[in-house]
Amino acid sequence: RVLILDFGSQVTQLIARRVREAGVYCEILPFNADPARVSDFGAKAVILSGGPASVTQETTPRAPDLVFDLGVPVLGICYGMQTMMEQLGGKVETSDHQEFGRAFLEVADSARLFEGVWERGERHQVWMSHGDRVLSLAPGFVTVGKSEGAPCAAVADDGRRFYGVQFHPEVVHTPDGARLLSNFVRGIAGCGGDWSMAAFRAQAIAQIRAQVGDGKVICGLSGGVDSSVAAVLIHEAIGEQLTCIFVDHGLLRAGEAEQVVEVFRDHYNIPLVARDASDLFLGKLAGVEDPERKRKIIGATFIDVFEEEAADLGGADFLAQGTLYPDVIESVSFTGGPSVTIKSHHNVGGLPERMRMKLVEPLRELFKDEVRELGRELGLPDKLVGRHPFPGPGLAIRMPGEITREKAEILRKADAVYLDEIRKAGLYDAIWQAFAVLLPVKTVGVMGDARSYDHVCALRAVTSTDGMTAESYPFDHEFLARTATRIINEVRGINRVVYDVTSKPPGTIEWE
Ligand code: XMP
Repeated sequence: RVLILDFGSQVTQLIARRVREAGVYCEILPFNADPARVSDFGAKAVILSGGPASVTQETTPRAPDLVFDLGVPVLGICYGMQTMMEQLGGKVETSDHQEFGRAFLEVADSARLFEGVWERGERHQVWMSHGDRVLSLAPGFVTVGKSEGAPCAAVADDGRRFYGVQFHPEVVHTPDGARLLSNFVRGIAGCGGDWSMAAFRAQAIAQIRAQVGDGKVICGLSGGVDSSVAAVLIHEAIGEQLTCIFVDHGLLRAGEAEQVVEVFRDHYNIPLVARDASDLFLGKLAGVEDPERKRKIIGATFIDVFEEEAADLGGADFLAQGTLYPDVIESVSFTGGPSVTIKSHHNVGGLPERMRMKLVEPLRELFKDEVRELGRELGLPDKLVGRHPFPGPGLAIRMPGEITREKAEILRKADAVYLDEIRKAGLYDAIWQAFAVLLPVKTVGVMGDARSYDHVCALRAVTSTDGMTAESYPFDHEFLARTATRIINEVRGINRVVYDVTSKPPGTIEWE
């Protein structure tokens, strides 16, 4: 197995993901993990991630020195490479020539890392994100790749099997990156390629059992893919120790509550409590306009309701959630370090500290498409596994400004019409996520022979593979015009429809 030491990069989890895709098991530990944990891990290879710090400062993170004495291959990526150079006797400097985004690497020499992928003299696209660069190599290393801004963009010591790359092989913008990582973990480190979702399932079940013991678990179901997969997985691990709780916060999509009850109570026979808490949630949200406050209120109210329901059930020791990796990375840095908060995804950052239950989050390391694969592995119906993501705070974050029951009702209807058109056009599965947003802006229109003064509805649809980056879906105009007409005709309260063409970044998928 492979150990990844995290220095706080926004994309560390992508390294883990590429290693898993190569069929090799891996885990991520923070760079400052207890050295005993690092040596006891039994790594067959170590990868040092990127990170936001600069090694040119003395107090910035360093890899535990023992990593270089384990006798196993080490690959440093970006900051990981720089700290490796510095720790092994090289020198790093802050450069005037920063490189962010697409760059080209000239392959200066052969190295086992490049075997079967890149040849000397070739030029390949890579993705860079650095301000510092390696000035002189540590003894034993040679330069095997150069870029415009980094004369030592790839370095190798084939003898010790130590490698460093200034670029990020884990992101898709380095098209050959996955193959380089596979070379490292399989070719160079000699790890087998037999890890799979079936193995993840078995391992996750063992972990859940070990964590929970004979404790009682409640699982918040949202009707979405993640919490459904988490619930079925946990049910497989601990059976009747699990009760699912479905809370209707008054901000769900049309027909959602009924569907959840049908799937879980009737199809899976998993104990389920369904609670209508819409008055409570909408009451607490009344008058609140700030997106982060909305998220925090909803997170805290969920916990209040879960705790009440847990008390009714005679107590619960754990709260299970379908938190995914993108929820984690955009809420807090994995290491608790310096990556910035974009938004507090409610099932991560919005949890109050006073909560007594401990969290069970078996999907915390996975991306959406991996969760879907796990769902299929667990035998969940395709219809459920293929559902578009729906955020825990629901329609609250699709209604900029104040939230009211009436507005939620208008939005629910518009959203249902939009999704109906998408399904009819056979586009549902080609789209990562599609939804309507109700704007707090009113505009003038003419309907029949009368003046109207109603809300604007924005439509959003994106393609994505993991929710971390996204592109607006290129509907044809015909489709948009047809959908806009239907929404305006069928939904009282909306008289204008616009389409959002922003990608992520710079936008996010949700509007708040
Ligand atoms: P953003 O808006 O950050 O969304 O680009 C990325 C993905 O995450 C979903 N999302 C959430 N999911 N709780 C969730 O369970 C949340 O608080 C939350 N906020 C956003 C969003 O729908 C998209 O799929």
